[in-house]
Amino acid sequence: MCGIVAYIGDKPAYPILMKGLQRLEYRGYDSAGIAIMNDKLHLYKKKGKVADLEAFMEGKDYQGNIGIGHTRWATHGEPSDANAHPHFSKTKSLVIIHNGIIENYSALREELKKRGYKFKSETDTEVLIHLIEDIQVKEKVDLFEAVRIALNEVIGAYAIVILSKDNPDQLIAAKKGSPLVIGVGNDEYFLASDASPIVEYTRNVVYLEDGEIAIVSRKEDLKIKTIKNKDKTPYMQELELKLEMLEKGGYDHFMLKEIHEQPRSIRDSMRGRLNAKKGLVTLGGIKDYETKLAKAQRIIIIACGTSWHAGLVGEYLFEEMARVPVEVEYASEFRYRNPVILESDVVIAISQSGETADTLAAMQFAESKGATILAICNVVGSTIPRTSHAGSYTHAGPEIGVASTKSFTAQITILALMALQVAQEKGTLPRSKFQQLLNELESIPEKVETTLKSNDQIKYIAEEYKNATNFLYLGRGYNFPVALEGALKLKEISYIHAEGYPAAEMKHGPIALIDEEMPVVVIATKKGSYEKVVSTIQEVKARKGKVIAIVTKGDKEVKAIADHCIEIPETFEAFAPLVSVIPLQLLSYHIALMRGCNVDQPRNLAKSVTVE
Ligand code: M6R
Repeated sequence: MCGIVAYIGDKPAYPILMKGLQRLEYRGYDSAGIAIMNDKLHLYKKKGKVADLEAFMEGKDYQGNIGIGHTRWATHGEPSDANAHPHFSKTKSLVIIHNGIIENYSALREELKKRGYKFKSETDTEVLIHLIEDIQVKEKVDLFEAVRIALNEVIGAYAIVILSKDNPDQLIAAKKGSPLVIGVGNDEYFLASDASPIVEYTRNVVYLEDGEIAIVSRKEDLKIKTIKNKDKTPYMQELELKLEMLEKGGYDHFMLKEIHEQPRSIRDSMRGRLNAKKGLVTLGGIKDYETKLAKAQRIIIIACGTSWHAGLVGEYLFEEMARVPVEVEYASEFRYRNPVILESDVVIAISQSGETADTLAAMQFAESKGATILAICNVVGSTIPRTSHAGSYTHAGPEIGVASTKSFTAQITILALMALQVAQEKGTLPRSKFQQLLNELESIPEKVETTLKSNDQIKYIAEEYKNATNFLYLGRGYNFPVALEGALKLKEISYIHAEGYPAAEMKHGPIALIDEEMPVVVIATKKGSYEKVVSTIQEVKARKGKVIAIVTKGDKEVKAIADHCIEIPETFEAFAPLVSVIPLQLLSYHIALMRGCNVDQPRNLAKSVTVE
């Protein structure tokens, strides 16, 4: 949550910070601010989006080649000018930006209050900068040492950057639990929550590790120390990210671009891993754990939100193909309910961002009990893959729309490959069936491409239901998690109440909701429990509900009774989610747009949830 960016070098800092904040806006967008140093230390901040800050900056003094910027997702204190970052210290000599949560901020705040400190905001961040200045003055130490001492007193997560009026040639940055990347240019440095604000200036980056403090000085080499004051050698890596991946590429919204990228992102996630011709699956990232996975008595999948829905599909895939019991857990519940974890368990953590606090904590908890931790993640170099024993990246490319779309299908692709790899190792599938599955998986990108052609029909359906106040989504088997995902997509971007249910459960309660006002989206693809789903549709129609059905091309039975049918190409039941979710993503996109909602930045949300 929250995006931070900073610059020190010879260039004007303002355009770099502003562009950086725009790129990081997906991380939070309730207020934004910057601090820039010339002969004075200037601080500007504003409630609202980065564009509001930009408008506010007109006519202001923002010259200078060192500065910090922040875009916020509120945790402590409502969105307001006062709670926006950066925050000044008491004497206004120091200024800080922070992503994360200082958990013991309340005790620290009370202590500082007793010593006469007055607070201008309700944030935990202001407590931290006062504490740092207090230590600097009391202990007569330099800024690095004051930061180091303060961070030893702090409980919680942080990525911080501090700028001091007394040293305009230096930035001090530190990290624990929240991400921080340092771009190393020619006599200049760029600091940010992810590489997106950095990539157009340099490809050389250093990912700061937990418990490290960076001393970033003008025209000097980068220095890194730990909060225990040990020297560390910066480990430089080369970015693979391309600038065009961060742009809308002619689409009106990132979400629409990302929906349309799915044939490519699924293909990229399979590339080099699936060789249908040779009848082989090889996920290089988990090679050393292949036997462990094949011998696992149980797999536990942990994730949140959309990633959790992908995990449910994973459960079906592993159980069917690799004949291993699977439990799928909400990371936030798992970590607090004293679960039984065995050393023979393999835990698979799924996360697009690689930063989700609940998922990270749950995997660390499972690791402390001796389980093997694998990660499926999209953001290269993020915390979750770096904390796991091994894993596989989904090569979906940057996902900027807050609603997850291409990451869902890429995660399922990796889960399918993993399940097939274990099946291959254990010999749980007949060779001919295994080969058919590989051939079919390889054909999925094409089928997604065909499905995307229904866009205009879906737009037409969206027009008819855009004013509905409730939606029900139903599916069975592999399509049940798709129903959950369709409902989540609709509610998070259009603010329409929607529920996903296993189709057969409808008669146990939700059927009471059905009347002529209730649109019911039913995923009724051939194979699996098709006939039973058709009966559910009959039950909805008997109560005058409106049925929007996702059906297999050529379907006649559902077409005869549903109000609308969106056809998708036929595929194996196990891979149906990769195709059947596409119309649901498009439906939510068009409804949200027609309702005037901000599709890419829905209210109250942020792309990565780095708080509990
Ligand atoms: O980055 P992660 O996959 O760990 O994020 C998990 C959820 O926060 C995320 O899927 C969220 O539910 C999305 N906004 C859904 O579209």
